[in-house]
Amino acid sequence: MKILMLHGGARKKGNTATAAGWMEEEFISAGHEVESISLFDKDINGCLACAKCKDIPDKVGCIQKDDAAEILDKMVAADLVVFTSPLYFWGLAGPLKTFIDRTYSLYIDYHKPTHTSLVEGQRQALLVTGAGPYENNAEPVFTAFNRLQSPHKAVKAGELYLGRCTTPDNFDAATREQVLDFAREIVT
Ligand SMILES: Cc1cc2nc3c(=O)[nH]c(=O)nc-3n(C[C@H](O)[C@H](O)[C@H](O)COP(=O)(O)O)c2cc1C
Repeated sequence: MKILMLHGGARKKGNTATAAGWMEEEFISAGHEVESISLFDKDINGCLACAKCKDIPDKVGCIQKDDAAEILDKMVAADLVVFTSPLYFWGLAGPLKTFIDRTYSLYIDYHKPTHTSLVEGQRQALLVTGAGPYENNAEPVFTAFNRLQSPHKAVKAGELYLGRCTTPDNFDAATREQVLDFAREIVT
């Protein structure tokens, strides 16, 4: 399986990167092809909402010339996309949110019978880490993610929230096992 991991967090040794690293190792050891991209390090502008992309349905038609173009093409080619992010103010970290907004260019005619998507049938998963619990804190980010597959015509492969994250050193063996199980689950 061709797996694209898109990371929204800034900290290369942070909680999210640590958990995502375990997932990546698990994917590689299972024989999958993995590419991992730190969106924080990329030049990605916000969506202009110009809808010019809607005139070019057979390829990514965004008119902006920044790093998103190449990443969107990689997303189209992937069988599974794993989005990862720390929880920031009950939402995704800015770089990932900004990139997801640019996926507006991947489909046309949402809510119409002519709706098509360049990522139709693609599996998508979300990993989020946060300091607080799931309840009354992390739900909004998963609510939004669960809706994303509809315009994308994609398939939800899974979601994982790791709460009570302070420093990566606090991750215990059970959390690592939970992350590895999640990695195995979303490829099947
Ligand atoms: C700007 C900012 C906003 C945050 N907002 C939340 C939040 O709304 N809920 C929460 O549980 N944790 C919040 N946190 C804590 C982080 O989500 C948490 O420590 C996370 O695991 C950090 O991930 P990282 O180590 O990969 O950077 C916030 C942290 C920062 C820096």
